[in-house]
This record gives sequence, C-alpha cells and structure tokens, in this order.
Amino acid sequence: RPGRRSSPSIETDPDQQPKTLDACRRCLLWHDATQGVPGAGPAHAPIMMVGEQPGDSEDRAGEPFVGPAGRLLDDALREAGVTRRAVFVTNAVKHFKWEPRGKRRMHKTPAQREVDACRYWLERELAQVSPSVVVALGATALKALLEDAHARLQAHFDKTTHHNGLTILATWHPSYALRAPDPETRQRVYGDIVRTLAHAKRIAH
Ligand code: URA
Repeated sequence: RPGRRSSPSIETDPDQQPKTLDACRRCLLWHDATQGVPGAGPAHAPIMMVGEQPGDSEDRAGEPFVGPAGRLLDDALREAGVTRRAVFVTNAVKHFKWEPRGKRRMHKTPAQREVDACRYWLERELAQVSPSVVVALGATALKALLEDAHARLQAHFDKTTHHNGLTILATWHPSYALRAPDPETRQRVYGDIVRTLAHAKRIAH
C-alpha cells in the first residue's frame, strides 16, 4: 500500500517506553499485526531460544512457535533431550511482519530498524529470565543478540560467543529446515539444529 508509511494516522515513536506489548508504537509493525507475541516459558528457564518474529499462526494465537516451525522445533528439542517446558522461547521482533499474497499473509523479513526498536522487549525478557544459555535461531536473532547488524550466522556455528553477559549459541532458523529446496539440505539443517540444542543442554545450568 503505497503512501502508508507517511500516513499521519499511523503512530510511531521510536523512543516510546511502553508498558505493554500491545501499546508498543516503537515501530510500525503493530499496525498490521493481530497482536504482539511475547516470549513464553518458565520465568527462570536455563535456556532461552530466540527466533525472528511470529509467523501467521503465532500472530493469531498470541504465542511463539506454535505453527509449523514450532512443531519442527519441538521435534528437534525432543531429539536433543530437552523438554520444551524447560525452555523460554521468544522472538527478536514481537509483531508479525507480512505482505499479502493472494489470500495468504506472507512473512517478510524485519528491517534492522525494527529489530533495533524491538530490542527494548528482548532486553526485558533477557533480564527477567536470565538464562545461562541463549540460542539464536537464525541470523535475525543473532544480529539482535550481538547488537551487530553484520553478524554472520555460519561464523558462529559450533562455538559459544559471549556478549553483554550472555552465552550465545547460534544455529539455523527452523523454517529453513522446512523450506530448503532439497531433502538432503533439510535433513542436514535439522541435524545441525538438534546438535546445537544438545550443546545448549550440555552447557546450561
Ligand atoms: N518463526 C519464528 O521465528 N518465530 C515464531 O514464533 C514462529 C516462526
């Protein structure tokens, strides 16, 4: 919708300090989303997993990772011997960013300014949960956690990175294990995710 961004009826204030996610106007994404999707899980979980943003199912449900990517993540957690109940799951961006394609709402990668605006919420969750290990699921989460827009996912595989008092592991985004073009890649990506989650379990306390 051309011109939408300059519409005076769409409020944004990057310096706003909202009390609730649904009152957040730090970026524009609130406008087209059904609701903000906060992280979910035990208040002091030893492991926190950070995705990119809610998908279509999460936007409707108001909960993170309940759609296809969430089911894949559940399988990977089970295979790694981690119970989902022991994990706090959240996203770098809390509102679903999408564009219409026919009747479907297609995921759109959030812009860096949206990731930056939403760090306000991620930082609160990190402070509250205080996990011993944080797993970045995909490049958007890694960039948000490292506060580095140029961070490259594959440079962080199989190693721990320390930043701002966090111990960070990085792996593929679970959606990539669903949509990679060939079955061999999907299998390899899934195996990499399982291996990272098993690593997180070993070092979590
Ligand atoms: N993909 C994500 O990154 N997060 C979700 O919550 C669902 C899909």
